[in-house]
Amino acid sequence: MKILGIETSCDETAVAIVQDGHEVLANCVASQIELHAGYGGVVPELAAREHLRAMPVVADQALADANCSLEDIDAVAVTCSPGLVPALLVGVSYAKGLAAARNCPLVPVSHFLAHIYGAFLDQPTLLQDERTFPVLALVVSGGHTALVVIEADGPARIVGTTLDDAAGEAYDKGAKILGLGYPGGPIIDCIAKTGNPAAHAFPRGLTGGGGRPRKPEHRHNFSFSGVKTALLYAVKDRHLTNTELADVVASYQAAIVDVLVSKTMDAAEHFGTPTVCMCGGVACNSQLRADMARAAEKRNLRLVLAPPKFCTDNAAMVAGIAQHYLGEGATHPPDLAFGVSARLDSNLGIVPFAPSILR
Ligand code: KG4
Ligand code: ZN
Repeated sequence: MKILGIETSCDETAVAIVQDGHEVLANCVASQIELHAGYGGVVPELAAREHLRAMPVVADQALADANCSLEDIDAVAVTCSPGLVPALLVGVSYAKGLAAARNCPLVPVSHFLAHIYGAFLDQPTLLQDERTFPVLALVVSGGHTALVVIEADGPARIVGTTLDDAAGEAYDKGAKILGLGYPGGPIIDCIAKTGNPAAHAFPRGLTGGGGRPRKPEHRHNFSFSGVKTALLYAVKDRHLTNTELADVVASYQAAIVDVLVSKTMDAAEHFGTPTVCMCGGVACNSQLRADMARAAEKRNLRLVLAPPKFCTDNAAMVAGIAQHYLGEGATHPPDLAFGVSARLDSNLGIVPFAPSILR
């Protein structure tokens, strides 16, 4: 079965065609980074207008890459939450139109859950193996930082989340403070390689640093606003040489990465998960990937890292997870109205996945 997936939750216009949940026939992404760079972040209305322009072009490209026509598509999947509402609306409207034209099922997908699936797109056998579960997923993107436990029989629950900024926001806002450009993640990743991560002792949010015990209610939660403020004061009114800048950047990144790794390892131990997966745009980070791999190996955990092309926003993860929804009958007829939502469609702590979503 071929599913055409559409993703417009933020600043990437993406269309992909995935066969049987795992075979990626096309994965097209048009980035709007240059459009938003001057603002230091994504402007929702500008993003929506650019999605509108790019959508038919990217969709045609995906069909051409997959060497198929619209008649070959069995279902259309689209991100409908969470994300920027004006941006989501463009993808959802286009998806409704395509599904109506094809008279095929329309599958609404959560962007957050699709990110987790992105780690397993290349790993069909792992998903079918009982021994993989429970899985602890760390979702680290510009919009989210969360730990999710996925059980063998399908349901999953969010066990921790950020109380303020997402890790990607910490990268982007940190880069903005330092005048490094947007998006900050890849720039900081690159500069940090030349600096000394021990040069500055930036705070490790909610890890119980300084010998104080962790607050039990925040054991699996994150907070990145403190490290961002600490960075602001560390560089305020100072002119940094290139070496000093690299040291500040490396130390700032170390504070973010240390927290992500230590909290993920602590949660894996606490929930007894043999598998840890990491996904979302920040999961591209080279230091985070290396440190997480080292920590997982030390504890004999299986680590599933989403490949970089499926970490940042893409539609292959949307089309892929939709295959599993179709099996559950979680589809809409093409004419049915479904809305979009800026928020994750479930309260924290309760089960946000449809049963057997990952299997
Ligand atoms: O998943 P994504 O493409 O969009 C959201 O759903 O938010 O993630 C984008 C985020 C941005 O904050 C960006 O700075 C960050 O991912 N990012 C990185 C790296 N590449 C992208 N952060 C750290 N290191 C990277 N190499
Ligand atoms: Zn994303």
